[in-house]
Amino acid sequence: MPIPPLRERPAYAALAEHHTQLQHRHLRDLFAEDAQRGERLSAEAAGLYLDYSKNRVTDQTLRLLFDLAEQSQLQQGRDMMFAGDRINVSENRSVLHVALRMPRDASLTVDGVDVVAQVHEVLDRMADFANKIRTGAWLGHTGRPIRNIVNIGIGGSDLGPVMAYEALRHYTDRDLTFRFVSNVDATDFVEATRDLDAEQTLFIVSSKTFGTLETLTNATSARDWLIARLGDPAAVAKHFVAVSTNAERVAQFGIDTANMFGFWDWVGGRYSVDSAIGLSTMVALGPEQFGELLAGFHAMDEHFRTAPLDRNLPALMGLLTVWNVDFLGAQSIGVMPYEQYLKRFPAYLQQLTMESNGKHVTLDGTTVDYQTGPVYWGEPGTNGQHSFYQLLHQGTRLIPVDLIGFGRSLNPLRDHHDILTSNVFAQAQALAFGKTEQEILAEGTSPDVAPHRVMQGNRPSNVLLAETLTPRILGALVALYEHSVFTQGTIWGIDSFDQWGVELGKVLAVAIIPELGGTEPALNHDSSTNTLIRRYRALKGG
Ligand code: F6P
Repeated sequence: MPIPPLRERPAYAALAEHHTQLQHRHLRDLFAEDAQRGERLSAEAAGLYLDYSKNRVTDQTLRLLFDLAEQSQLQQGRDMMFAGDRINVSENRSVLHVALRMPRDASLTVDGVDVVAQVHEVLDRMADFANKIRTGAWLGHTGRPIRNIVNIGIGGSDLGPVMAYEALRHYTDRDLTFRFVSNVDATDFVEATRDLDAEQTLFIVSSKTFGTLETLTNATSARDWLIARLGDPAAVAKHFVAVSTNAERVAQFGIDTANMFGFWDWVGGRYSVDSAIGLSTMVALGPEQFGELLAGFHAMDEHFRTAPLDRNLPALMGLLTVWNVDFLGAQSIGVMPYEQYLKRFPAYLQQLTMESNGKHVTLDGTTVDYQTGPVYWGEPGTNGQHSFYQLLHQGTRLIPVDLIGFGRSLNPLRDHHDILTSNVFAQAQALAFGKTEQEILAEGTSPDVAPHRVMQGNRPSNVLLAETLTPRILGALVALYEHSVFTQGTIWGIDSFDQWGVELGKVLAVAIIPELGGTEPALNHDSSTNTLIRRYRALKGG
């Protein structure tokens, strides 16, 4: 059954009508009318508790959002993804990151191949390699064990590994040093390697395509760095491994494909942290804890696949995002982890959400007449509170936030954790309920100053709570956002799995590179670009 355009689905029109009635209702009233709201509007799965009661929704809103999901064939779309159908239409690919975390005894046949068996074959090779590094059995060119691991990659080949390493640092082998090089700015490579002993350093070159300019440039500099220090090109064999889908290019670069860990075109870069791209994570954590991470992903996958919509965390979060974006007009969403180890989580989510849903046409190429993916951004709490939360509370924009908290700190110290967590609850409260002029005047504030202190409230938030940050919880958390993104993309009818928008800039940069070198004759760009190139040449003194 074809799905009608979004605005022609009956539930969309009903939501628009419903919004006109609801827009003047305040969260204060919604809570006052229903003493159970805070308990009722919550859901729990895979160790994560979601309180979504501080969204501007009623039971009727939720019913209409579930209708919209049905009319958008969310469940069918989800089943197609899990079955390996080619739902990435513009690239004609399956989207099977869920297969990366299926247990060993599962099977999923796509084009005649059991992809789960393939996944576990690579996981076993990764585990063997990770153990050799961790135990010191893998020796460098001069016979010394590897102690430093440098992941070179960009986008999904960097953000996943660095986010997971930082998030799970508590569980890592502290005798090993991990660095992550992504930016083609040489400073990134130079600072990451300046104190490393080449004899004990291993480079993991991570690139799905093995054709990404930034990564190949950094990998080439890494090879030069190593050979300059060890004095022998043969050293590359023991100090470089690759993670890629492209064996030919890996071999061309000079890495033995016996030291390559593969994955498949059905794993998108931003969905690859749990593939071989997670090799550095597995070395840091050990295979067992990496298995826990995968188990957390899988638990959330199973929840998403089987739970009814009204208890389905990713579906609820995705539908609430559609509500906030398309009906309440939110343009961005803040994600604030109250957990220092999750400091790179917002950056990771930016690629996951914005590369996925930053799209302007539907699957059949029609330009959308509604808003799609919002801007995601964030910082660990409580730092953000002393910087940009002012705008969240009193600015003129509506910015829904996800606040992520934990029951226990991995580093308990005096009363830090209670102070930290009190802020999760206090911020959600302040955003929702604010403070009225009446309340402010009643405190004795002068009428001149009172308007400056008014907090309108009625600002939506989700609170996510878990017991403590473990590999399993991290897996569930990432899968939660992955499937929320899927839910949003399905409602919007867009391809959440391509990223053509990043290509033009790459092509233009390649054309400009040779022009920056010297006094090459005519520049044929627009007048701004020509002037900037000439100014750059002058600045660099060429
Ligand atoms: O340019 C965007 C992108 O293609 C991302 O989608 C991807 O994660 C990143 O570049 C890196 O690509 P690769 O792993 O092929 O080097």
